[in-house]
Amino acid sequence: MALKIGVIGTGMIGQDHIRRLTQVLSGAQITAVTDIDAVRAAAAAPAGARATNTPQELIRADDVEAVVICSWGPAHEEQLLDCIAAGKPVFCEKPLVTSEQAALRVIDAEAAFGRRLVQVGFMRRFDADYRSLKAVIDGGTLGTPLMYKSVHRNVSVPAGLYTSDMPLNDTLVHDADISRWLLDDEISAVEVRTPRRSSRGQDLRDPVMVMLYMGSGAIVDVEISVNIAYGYDIRGEVSCEQGIAALPNRPATVISDQFGIRQAIPRDWRDRFIDAYDQEFREWIIAAQKGGATGPSTWDGYAATLVGDAALRAVTSGAREPIHMRDKPDIYA
Ligand SMILES: NC(=O)c1ccc[n+]([C@@H]2O[C@H](COP(=O)([O-])OP(=O)(O)OC[C@H]3O[C@@H](n4cnc5c(N)ncnc54)[C@H](O)[C@@H]3O)[C@@H](O)[C@H]2O)c1
Repeated sequence: MALKIGVIGTGMIGQDHIRRLTQVLSGAQITAVTDIDAVRAAAAAPAGARATNTPQELIRADDVEAVVICSWGPAHEEQLLDCIAAGKPVFCEKPLVTSEQAALRVIDAEAAFGRRLVQVGFMRRFDADYRSLKAVIDGGTLGTPLMYKSVHRNVSVPAGLYTSDMPLNDTLVHDADISRWLLDDEISAVEVRTPRRSSRGQDLRDPVMVMLYMGSGAIVDVEISVNIAYGYDIRGEVSCEQGIAALPNRPATVISDQFGIRQAIPRDWRDRFIDAYDQEFREWIIAAQKGGATGPSTWDGYAATLVGDAALRAVTSGAREPIHMRDKPDIYA
């Protein structure tokens, strides 16, 4: 039986996930959608799905067995708490929520429910290249990982909408989450350095360099450049005691012309991670059909929230800002 899904938020990524769930993957059926923009919701509703007036109506509907949240970050907490109260598995796009207190409330609600219901949209964990990098590290042949270098470069960001805080409290979450996952470790402190600004950045704090201090003593350095013009370029390299392992620099079409032989770099993050998004939902559907969740959890969303907060403190203070996590509830063990 196909999993009956309701989608909250039918903007850019909501529409992409609707396409994925209706045209790419099997085992899912979208029965309801909703958006504060009712016209957008009606336009995005696939055949056989209705638009509800509110997220609450959608979450409580008998023909919705699981929920996908693609609304703006500040709306996530209430929608997640409603899903947990209804006992329905929920996929929530990042960010989990937008404050530490909100993350703690979602953790408390899910822990009180007694098992995991929430999967957070950290899609890099489903990317084949990251998975094979993790398999090499976990295999142990290179010895203990000591340092990880993460590069996150965007062609451009929308002027006026993307602010100077966003490299640290929005873009960085992906690098922070993948570092925790690859190194199987928590981040204990964050430091931020700001080099000369890019003249392409419309006065944005861009680029930034972030140091993530892991509990084990390993250090991650992250470069975030959000107006770098040439491509969406994601890199990762882990230095271990006896060798290094790196992501392949995702090859695209090979072009031969009067300038030589070169490989084009994707310009759009959706192209780079399209297979990862598909796999993320493939695995979510299987877990949700069993009434639960696997993959990135509320705990992982909480950790990312703390890193974003610490990075904002660090860019102001210039200091290494510590992170203190609460005790981990058993459901996230
Ligand atoms: N995993 C990723 O790589 C990735 C990529 C892009 C976006 N995102 C996340 O997905 C979410 C949506 O991003 P987007 O780019 O699609 O934004 P968007 O602005 O294109 O779409 C968001 C939609 O949510 C609706 N909405 C907002 N608040 C709502 C509420 N309370 N109830 C119902 N609908 C509501 C808006 O009207 C809009 O249609 C954000 O949290 C964003 O950070 C994640």
